[in-house]
Amino acid sequence: MKNQQSIAILGAGNLGIAIAQGLVKARVCEASDITLTRRNLDKIAEQKKSGFNITSNNSEAVTNADYVFLCVQPKQLAGLLEEIETALDSQKHVLVSTITGVTLEVIESHLKERFPVIRSMPNTAIAISESMTCICGNKLAENHLKEVELLFKSVGDTLIIEEELMKAATVLAASGVAFFLRYIRAATQGGIQLGFDAAEAQKIAMQTARGAASLLVEGSAHPEMEIDKVTTPQGCTIAGLNEMEHQGLSSALIKGIVTSYERINRITE
Ligand SMILES: NC(=O)c1ccc[n+]([C@@H]2O[C@H](COP(=O)([O-])OP(=O)(O)OC[C@H]3O[C@@H](n4cnc5c(N)ncnc54)[C@H](OP(=O)(O)O)[C@@H]3O)[C@@H](O)[C@H]2O)c1
Repeated sequence: MKNQQSIAILGAGNLGIAIAQGLVKARVCEASDITLTRRNLDKIAEQKKSGFNITSNNSEAVTNADYVFLCVQPKQLAGLLEEIETALDSQKHVLVSTITGVTLEVIESHLKERFPVIRSMPNTAIAISESMTCICGNKLAENHLKEVELLFKSVGDTLIIEEELMKAATVLAASGVAFFLRYIRAATQGGIQLGFDAAEAQKIAMQTARGAASLLVEGSAHPEMEIDKVTTPQGCTIAGLNEMEHQGLSSALIKGIVTSYERINRITE
């Protein structure tokens, strides 16, 4: 992203604030380059103290911005776009939506003029700058995709994808947080049965999950290569792993992911 660009985050709730804080923490921009909006300004008084501009006036926020993040709930989008439309300038503004399940076409349909529009799907780990964010854009946004990807890289990792994969990204990355957390919960319960107290078992499960993921992220290895290193012939790991597979571990995970995808398709039809 070029220096001195301004950002308006319309709908500064959980996600909007996390994005704003991540951008400043990563020194992508200053808090004073970001304007946060919401109707209830009391709820972002803390952010004002941290140097962010805050206002309830979405049009005013847009006028001063280059990037306009749309971070409201899906049912609030139409009203928001209607409110800011006259303040939008197609030569200047890039719209970046984080709104789940709302397509580029739907966003465009609310606007009379054509704008660069980018759709993003972060996950809740954005609050600690560890999101996995998938991004796609319309034709006009082609030249802005990399810049917006850089913004999201400051709050985790990113992937530019085709829009048709956005629902799959929602399942794998956004719902995926819940899937991994359920594994950690189950491992904790197993640990308690083996003699640890709940806090100890959860600590061991959490750090082991983090370490396992880091082995892949930092070593770029295939999971099975790392599994081979832990599975001594006739040892306890392979015995446990094979029992998990007999009970359908991989199959259950794949079926769960596919079921989640079928459900998201039905919800958004
Ligand atoms: N949280 C996540 O990790 C995550 C991940 C992926 C996608 N998303 C998507 O991102 C969007 C935001 O999620 P969230 O969790 O941050 O929701 P949220 O906490 O409910 O934030 C939405 C914010 O929008 C504000 N708002 C509503 N109407 C407004 C308007 N006309 N002008 C200005 N502000 C307005 C609300 O505050 P006031 O009522 O005070 O106006 C609220 O703080 C959702 O569409 C969600 O599907 C979230």
